[in-house]
Amino acid sequence: MKLIHTIAELRAATAAAPAAPVFVPTMGNLHEGHLALIKQARDIAGTSSSPVVASIFVNRLQFGPNEDFDTYPRTMARDAELLQAAGCDILFAPSEAELYPQPQGFKVVPPTELADILEGAFRPGFFTGVSTVVHKLFNLVQPKAAVFGKKDYQQLMVIRNMVVQMGLPIQIVGGETLRADDGLALSSRNGYLSAAERQEAVQLSQALRAVREGVAQQRVLAQLNAASVAALEAQAMAALAQRGWAPDYVLVRRQFDLTPATDAQLQQGEPLVCLAAAKLGQTRLIDNLEL
Ligand code: PAF
Repeated sequence: MKLIHTIAELRAATAAAPAAPVFVPTMGNLHEGHLALIKQARDIAGTSSSPVVASIFVNRLQFGPNEDFDTYPRTMARDAELLQAAGCDILFAPSEAELYPQPQGFKVVPPTELADILEGAFRPGFFTGVSTVVHKLFNLVQPKAAVFGKKDYQQLMVIRNMVVQMGLPIQIVGGETLRADDGLALSSRNGYLSAAERQEAVQLSQALRAVREGVAQQRVLAQLNAASVAALEAQAMAALAQRGWAPDYVLVRRQFDLTPATDAQLQQGEPLVCLAAAKLGQTRLIDNLEL
């Protein structure tokens, strides 16, 4: 695996490759979930001799003033070893000065209906930061395909829409969320949890499962409607709050665009996803389940 820090070296490496890359952008501190995305990228590359390119860049633009940019774990040496073992060909790990040589005044601002709901409502500017860096990385890597984890469901949806609206010739592929044995979705931020919090953390995925069961029951009874969905969301929020969590949201939305489903759509079997974000102690976790 080539470890590359500059844009010039990256361009030279991708120009020398026989086919356009398959790309996995990350912020590092890699876990099995990231490595599964690399393996998925390898499968997409198949026999096409496309290199698999990963990036590691902790993107200041997507962190709010009171968020964990400074403390976000930076574990480059270990990450590089893991990527190499997982079959990555090129790791692009630019410095901040390399990626943002000037203050990044030009930004990619996603539409409010995609980006100011759910995560965006609690993390203002987050999806502008994500879209800006991903667009820039796409320009630099020029991949034919890019893989994003479904754990960040809204991010995947925003990127899919960005690629369509900006006319970028890149196939966006979603990777399934990997979970620990107890069901906790793998995340770099799980490392912030104390031992006791780690035991409790499984309750977020349990809350999602409870909503999934409730939706399934209401579907069988043909009673799934906006009111019964709202009741399930409220129950899940209350269950988390009772256990000492500070939930931001537990919401059932259409998979297609993350808008709330109408009664008619719910009755016609609209594909749904339940998304949740909640703080446990100082750590904010997100998760989702397709229903
Ligand atoms: O999901 C992430 O790790 C980041 O949001 C991404 C896509 C690498 C952009 O910084």
